[in-house]
Amino acid sequence: MSGLTMLFDQETIAERVDQLAGEIARTLPGEFMAVGLLKGSFVFLADLVRALSRLDVVPEVEFIRLRSYGLGKESSGTMHLISDIPGDISNRDVLLVDDILDTGRSLDYARALIEQRDVGRIWTCVLIDKPSRRDAGIALDFVGFSIGDLFVAGYGIDYAERYRHLPHIVAVE
Ligand code: IMP
Ligand code: MG
Repeated sequence: MSGLTMLFDQETIAERVDQLAGEIARTLPGEFMAVGLLKGSFVFLADLVRALSRLDVVPEVEFIRLRSYGLGKESSGTMHLISDIPGDISNRDVLLVDDILDTGRSLDYARALIEQRDVGRIWTCVLIDKPSRRDAGIALDFVGFSIGDLFVAGYGIDYAERYRHLPHIVAVE
């Protein structure tokens, strides 16, 4: 049985998501496309677009589904594109959104994929950054929380497909 320790409660997450929405609203043009990486970003992006809408910023929402993790805590190392954005996104400004930046490979892969489409500018946003684990040289524009080398779950983030439903974020031992 895995041990779970509370890391960020609901209120802390909600406050930080509101602040991030403020930073994004001040930085990005009025119209852009928010592209979430599935599955981990689904809860974060849902809250983020609603926080943005309270600031009268209403991005279009799209998703890309990648797979890098197996059922354990370690990345399989190879990226697979499972589902892409349908249709033409040329000239669109894009905010790429993920739950966690760990090695950086997922966001790097997604960014390269989107860059091929003659999009406008690209910004990156993650709820949780683990700077000590980075191996791809990716620049982050918006970060919710920076943490050490912990494995976390909840708020859309899974451990072996469990805990996505939790309203808070826990560290998994
Ligand atoms: P990266 O490609 O190594 O940056 O890993 C990022 C992806 O791995 C995220 O989108 C998460 O889905 C997953 N991941 C990284 N760290 C964790 C964690 O602590 N818990 C759950 N998933 C994680
Ligand atoms: Mg993920």
